Amino acid sequence: MEQSESTVNNSLVFAVNGKRFEVSTIHPSTTVLEFLRSHTPFKGPKLSCGEGGCGACVVLLSKYNPILDQLDDCTVSSCLTLLCSVNGCSITTTEGLGNSKDGFHPIHERFSGFHASQCGFCTPGMCMSLFSALVNAEKTPRPEPPLGFSKLKVSEAERAIAGNLCRCTGYRPIADACKSFSADVDMEDLGFNSFWRKGDSKEVKLSSLPLYNHSDEICTFPEFLKNETRSTLLLDSRRYSWYSPVSIEELQRLLGFVEDGNGSRVKVVVGNTGMGYYKEVESYDKYIDLRHIPEFSMIRRDNTGISIGATVTISKAIEALREYNQSGFYSEGDMVYKNIADHMEKVASGFIRNSASLGGNLVMAQRNHFPSDIATVLLAVGSTVNIMNSLKSEELTLEEFLRRPELDSKSILVGVKIPDRDRIMGISSGTKMKLLFETYRAAPRPLGNALPYLNAALMAKVSRCTTSNGIIVSNCRFAFGGYGTKHPIRATKVEEFLTGKVLSVGVLCEAVKLLKGIVVPDDGTSSPAYRSSLAVSFLFEFFSHLVEANAKSPDGCVDGYSTLLSPAKQLDHGKISTLLSSAKQEVELNRQYHPVGEPIAKSGAAIQASGEAVYVDDIPSPTNCLHGAFIYSTKPLARVKGIKLNPKSVADGVSALISFKDIPGENIGCKTIFGTEPLFADDFTRCAGEYIAFVVADTQKHANMAANLAVVDYDMENLEPPILSVEEAVRRSSFFEVPSFISPKQVGDFSRGMAKADHKILSAEIRLGSQYYFYMETQTALAIPDEDNCIVVYSSIQCPENAHTTISRCLGIPEHNVRVITRRVGGGFGGKSMKAIAVATACALAAYKLQRPVRIYMNRKTDMKIAGGRHPMKVTYSVGFKSNGKITALHVDILINAGIGVDISPIMPMLMVGALKKYDWGAFSFDIKVCKTNHLSKSAMRAPGEVQATFISEAVIEHVASTLSMDVDSVRSRNLHTFNSLNFFFEGCAGEHVEYTLPLIWDKLATSSSFKERTDMIKQFNMCNKWQKRGISRVPIVHEVSLKATPGKVSILSDGSVAVEVGGIELGQGLWTKVKQMTAFALISIGCDGMGDFLEKVRVIQSDTLSLIQGGLTAGSTTSECSCEAIRLCCNMLVERLNPIKERLQEQMGSVEWGTLILQAQSQAVNLSASSYYVPDFSSFQYLNYGAAVSEVEVNLLTGQTTILQSDIIYDCGQSLNPAVDLGQIEGAFVQGIGFFMLEEYTTNSDGLVVTEGTWTYKIPTIDTVPKQFNVEVLNSGHHKNRVLSSKASGEPPLLLAVSVHCATRAAIREARQQLLSWTGLTKCDSTFQLEVPATMPVVKELCGLENVESYLQSLLS
Ligand SMILES: Cc1cc2nc3c(=O)[nH]c(=O)nc-3n(C[C@H](O)[C@H](O)[C@H](O)COP(=O)(O)OP(=O)(O)OC[C@H]3O[C@@H](n4cnc5c(N)ncnc54)[C@H](O)[C@@H]3O)c2cc1C
Ligand code: FES
Ligand code: FES
Repeated sequence: MEQSESTVNNSLVFAVNGKRFEVSTIHPSTTVLEFLRSHTPFKGPKLSCGEGGCGACVVLLSKYNPILDQLDDCTVSSCLTLLCSVNGCSITTTEGLGNSKDGFHPIHERFSGFHASQCGFCTPGMCMSLFSALVNAEKTPRPEPPLGFSKLKVSEAERAIAGNLCRCTGYRPIADACKSFSADVDMEDLGFNSFWRKGDSKEVKLSSLPLYNHSDEICTFPEFLKNETRSTLLLDSRRYSWYSPVSIEELQRLLGFVEDGNGSRVKVVVGNTGMGYYKEVESYDKYIDLRHIPEFSMIRRDNTGISIGATVTISKAIEALREYNQSGFYSEGDMVYKNIADHMEKVASGFIRNSASLGGNLVMAQRNHFPSDIATVLLAVGSTVNIMNSLKSEELTLEEFLRRPELDSKSILVGVKIPDRDRIMGISSGTKMKLLFETYRAAPRPLGNALPYLNAALMAKVSRCTTSNGIIVSNCRFAFGGYGTKHPIRATKVEEFLTGKVLSVGVLCEAVKLLKGIVVPDDGTSSPAYRSSLAVSFLFEFFSHLVEANAKSPDGCVDGYSTLLSPAKQLDHGKISTLLSSAKQEVELNRQYHPVGEPIAKSGAAIQASGEAVYVDDIPSPTNCLHGAFIYSTKPLARVKGIKLNPKSVADGVSALISFKDIPGENIGCKTIFGTEPLFADDFTRCAGEYIAFVVADTQKHANMAANLAVVDYDMENLEPPILSVEEAVRRSSFFEVPSFISPKQVGDFSRGMAKADHKILSAEIRLGSQYYFYMETQTALAIPDEDNCIVVYSSIQCPENAHTTISRCLGIPEHNVRVITRRVGGGFGGKSMKAIAVATACALAAYKLQRPVRIYMNRKTDMKIAGGRHPMKVTYSVGFKSNGKITALHVDILINAGIGVDISPIMPMLMVGALKKYDWGAFSFDIKVCKTNHLSKSAMRAPGEVQATFISEAVIEHVASTLSMDVDSVRSRNLHTFNSLNFFFEGCAGEHVEYTLPLIWDKLATSSSFKERTDMIKQFNMCNKWQKRGISRVPIVHEVSLKATPGKVSILSDGSVAVEVGGIELGQGLWTKVKQMTAFALISIGCDGMGDFLEKVRVIQSDTLSLIQGGLTAGSTTSECSCEAIRLCCNMLVERLNPIKERLQEQMGSVEWGTLILQAQSQAVNLSASSYYVPDFSSFQYLNYGAAVSEVEVNLLTGQTTILQSDIIYDCGQSLNPAVDLGQIEGAFVQGIGFFMLEEYTTNSDGLVVTEGTWTYKIPTIDTVPKQFNVEVLNSGHHKNRVLSSKASGEPPLLLAVSVHCATRAAIREARQQLLSWTGLTKCDSTFQLEVPATMPVVKELCGLENVESYLQSLLS
C-alpha cells in the first residue's frame, strides 16, 4: 500500500495507570488486553470470553481533546479494542485505582465489604465499570453530593454493571457495592455487609463505609500525555501497518491501493467490536482507521433531520438523539429520536457501545447479515445513507443500501441521516395528524447484551376519520429484523393494506394475517414460529390501545382519539425502569465460637478487586515459555488418519504437535475412583470434542490459530454407527456399571403403594438437557520442567491430587517427581475437577517432551466444546395418589447420558435418589441406568443429578395437582416428610427430631413472604390483566451431603504468624475465609494476651500436592467444613504442645503474649507445625440440609418473557461458620439455578458437538434477569451435635431452590392457557402440560399460545 500524505513518523504512545508506554513496533491486530497482559505488570483486566460479551476485560479509556481542553472517559472491552487505536489515549485498569501497599480505592474496599467478590474473576471489570460511572457522574452539573457520596444515581449505579457477567454472586451484593456510592441511596436498602451491624444508625453506617471523596478522584489522563496529544496523533503507517487518513480524498487514495498485489489482508476499522462476532481465523496485516476523517465523526441537526457520521459511536449517537429533550418535553419528532435512543441503549452493553460505531453496525448488517437492531430502527424512520468508494460517493435510502449486493471492501459508509418528523411521514406541525412510533425487541436479557429473537420499529400517521368515529391510518412504516433474515425488511404489504383504513379489530386481524406471511425466518433459524409470532405481538401491541377501545365501541370503530393517542396509553413492555427493587438479608449471628460465625469479608476479596490476586494465567511466563491449544474431534466415532497443520501456522511460530504417540507413559488424561479416560484419541476418536492433539506455539494466539486451522482426516468406513441417544444405548446395552457400595436402595413396596392409590399417572415422560459451568476463568495450566525429570504444574483445578497421579502415570515418572500447585480458581462449579486434569496433563506432557515451560489459557469456544457439562437425561415416571393429593407410590426410570468416559457418572444414581427423596412418596422405586454414549463424558456440575432430581420431584407434584385440579401448594404440603417418614426414606442420616427444620422453615416462609396474601393478589392481578400473568410457587428441599477425609496442616512461624494448608481449594466459595476463622478460634483458645486481631496473623497458602498429600476433590459442599475440622485438629495438637509452656510462663510473668510464647516454644524445640487427616465418623458422615423458597414471576404473553418479581429463601445453615460467605453461596447458587431452569441452552449438533460456543448463544443470568426483590434468611438452627461447630453446608443445596421460579412460571402459564381457552370458546382447563427446562422465551410463549393474539382478536370479532 502506498504511503499516504498524512503519514507522520509518530510512535505509538499511550499511558497505562499514569505510566508512559511507547511501543516501537507491534502487529496491528494486537488488542489492548493482549498488550496489557503480556507486556505490562497490569493483569487486572481478565480474558474470559474474548468477544465483548462478559466485561471481565473492561478498562477505562480516556481521550483528551486539546482544542476543547476536555476529557472523554469511557469503558471499553480491552479484548476487542486494538492497541494502535489507543494512540495518545490513557488507560486505567483496576490497579490504577489503588492497591494493598499504597491503599485500596473505596471501590475495592466496598466490593470486599459488601461481599461482592467470590472467585473474583469478574471483579476487576466490575470495578472499572463502576469507576467509569462515578467519573462520568462527577462531570454532570448535578448538585454537590454529601460527603462520602458521588453524584451517581442509584439507577445508574445498577446499570453501570449491566453488561458485566458474574457467575458466583447472583449480582445482589455487587449492586449494593455500586449503589453505596449514590447520593440518592437509602442506606436501609444496602444489603448485608461487614461495615455495619443491623440496627446501626444512618450516621454510624455512613462513617463506617470506606470514605469516598469525589473531589480527590484518580487522575485518568496524565499531564505529560496532554502535551504529547497536542501534536498529531497519527501513527507512522509503515511501521505499524496502521493507516489513519484525515480526509475523504486521502481515504479514497488509500482505497485505490487496497489490493496491493502482495496478498496482504487490509481491514477498514473503527471500534473493532465486529470481531466479537465475526472472529476471523486469520488476522489482518493492515488496517485503515476511519476515525480521523472529520466528515465521518460529525453530528449535525437541522430542520431536515439529524446527520450522524459513520464513526460516531453508539453511545455518542444516543447522547445526540437525547440532546434535544433538555426541556423534558418531547415533541413528536423528538419522541422518535428518544425512542431510537432508548432502543440503541439495549444494543450490546455500555462498554461495547462506547467504541462500537453506527457505521460499523450498518455495514455488518449490510455485508455480513448481522441481526442489527440499529438497521431495523433506522429503516422504519426512513433514514438515508452516504456511501463512497475510491471513485465516487452517492446517497441512497437505507432500504436500498440494505437490499444492494454486499458492499465490497473498497466501499465506505460515510454517514447516516435520520429525517425530521415532517419528512418521515410528511407531517407538518400544526396538522391534526398524530405520529405513533414504537420500537420493540424480544431478547433473553431485557437490558441488552443479547441479540434479539426479533426486533421491530413501527411508525404510523393517524388522524380522526371524518366520516366515522374512528381513527384512520394515513400512512405507516413497519420494519422487522434480527429474526433470521438477511437484513431487516419493511412489511410493505401490511403498510399498504393499512393505509387509508379505519382501524378496527377486523382490519387488525387482516393485517396480522398478512404479516405472518411476511415475517418468515430463513431455513435453519431456531424457533421460527416463535419469531413470526413476535412480529404479530408487536404489531398488536402497537395498536392495542386502539383495539381495546374498539371492542367497547358500538360501531366497531375507535373513539376517543386524543386520549387514545397519548403515549401513556400504550403498553410499555420490556421497558424496565428499576433492576433490583429491594432485598433483605436476615442473618442471626452466633458468637459462641468467635471469630468463627462472624460475617468477615472474604479473604483476598480486596486484592481480587484491585487486580493483585494471581490466577494461573497471571503468573508471568518463564523464559522460553511456549503455549498450547487443543485440536479436538468433530466426529463422534471415526478413525483418525492424520492431522494437517496449515503451512501458514507453521510459519507462525508453531513448534510441536503433540499426540498420543508422544506419551511416554499411559495415555491417561483423567482419573477418578471409577476409572480413567485417555488424554488423546488414539487411532480412533470416540466422541466429538475429544482431544486429538495439542499444538504448541510461541504465543497463545498462534497456538489457537494453528489449532483452529488444523485439518483432521477422518475415516468412518466400516465402523458401527455411534451411540448418540440414551435409547440407542439401551438398545445396545451400553452402560457404565454402578458399584454396589454406591447403589441406592428402593424405599417401601411400590406395588403396595400403587394399590392404595385412588388415581394413577403412568409413564409420563420428561427430558432434561445439559448446562455449562461458565466459570469466568476458562481452563488453564502452566507446566515447568524441573531438575532430575521433575515437573511443576500450576493448575486451576478442584482436584490437584488427581492431576498429580494422572501426570505421573502419563509421563511415566514417579509421583514424587510431580508437584501440582493451585492457589485460586476463577470459578469451578465442578467443571474444574475432572476436565481440568487433562489440561494440566497435556501441558505437563508437552513441557516434559520439549523441556520448556508450556502453558495454556483455553479460549471460550474450545472450553465450551470440551467441557461436557451437566448430565442430560430421559425420565419416565409413574405415580399413584389419593384423591386428597397424598402420593402413595412413585416409580422413576431414568436414562442418564454419561457420555463416553466414566468420570464420576456412577455416583449419579445415588445423588439423584437422595434428592428425589425430598417428599414422602409412600413407596419409592426406580431404575436408573448410566448410559455410555458417543458424547463427550459428562461431569459433575454444582448439585449434579440433584437439581435434575428436584425438578423431577416437582414435575410429579405439579402433575398430581393438575390431575386433581388441586392447589399445588397444598399437594406439596401434604407430601412433606414427617420426621418418621424422613427416617424411613433417609435411614441413618436424618439426625435427631429437633434437627428436622423443614416444617418450621415451610411455615416461617409462608409468613415472611406473605405467601397466602400474595397468592390472592395474584389471582386478582390475573383477572385484571390480559397480557401479563403472574404465578407464585413455594418449594422445599431436602438435600443430603457427605463429609470426606481431608488433610490439614498448621505451621506457626517465629514471629507468631501462622501458615495454613488445607486439602480443599479456594474456588470463590470462601473456604480460606472459614479456615482462617477456624484457625484463629482454635489457637485463641490457648488464652494468651494480645490475640485480639489474631485473624490478621493467619494466612492460608496455596495448595501444593507434595506439601500436603491426599487433598482429594473440592466438591459436594462440605470441603469447607471438613478442611476446618482438619485444621481444628492441627490447632488442638499445637495448643496441647504449647499449653505447658504457656502455663509455666504465666506462673512466672502473670500474663503471656502470643509472640513470647512462640519464641519460648521455639527455643525449647517444640514442633510448631502440626498436620492432621480428618476422617469423618461413619455414624455421622452424612446429613441432611433443609430450605425452602417462594418465587413470584410475571410472564408476558406477547413475548414469552418471564420476569422474576420476587424470591424469598430460608435456608438452614446450622450455626453458620461465616454467614456472609454462606449468604453469598445461597444467592449465587440460586441464581445459577435460575440459569439452568430458565435461560441456559447447552446444545449439540447431530454429531454431539457443542454448538453453543460463546456469550452470543449461551446466556447466563445477568443483573436484569435475577429476582427484582430477593430476600434471604440464613437460618441459625442452633446446636447440631455431629456437625463441625454445629455448621451445615451451603454450596450446592440452594441451587435446587431455583426450581421455585420454574414452578411459578408454570403457574403463570396455566393462567394464560386458561384464558386462551376462554378466547377460543372452550371452558375445560388443560392444566396438564410439561414446561421444558430451560423455560426460555420461545418455550414459554409456545405454551401461552403462539397464536394467542389471533385468538384474542377473533374472540373480539365473535
Ligand atoms: C457483545 C456485542 C453485542 C452486540 N449486540 C448487538 C445488538 O444487540 N444489536 C445490534 O444491533 N448490534 C449489536 N452488536 C454489534 C455492534 O453494534 C457492532 O459490533 C458495532 O456497531 C460495530 O462497530 P465498530 O465500530 O466496532 O465496527 P468494526 O468492528 O470496526 O467494523 C465492523 C465491520 O464493518 C466495517 N466497517 C466499519 N465501519 C465502516 C464504514 N464506515 N464503511 C465501511 N465499512 C466499515 C469493518 O471493515 C468491519 O468489516 C454487538 C456487538 C458486540 C461485540
Ligand atoms: S473478555 Fe472482553 S468482554 Fe469478555
Ligand atoms: S465473583 Fe463474579 S465470577 Fe466469580
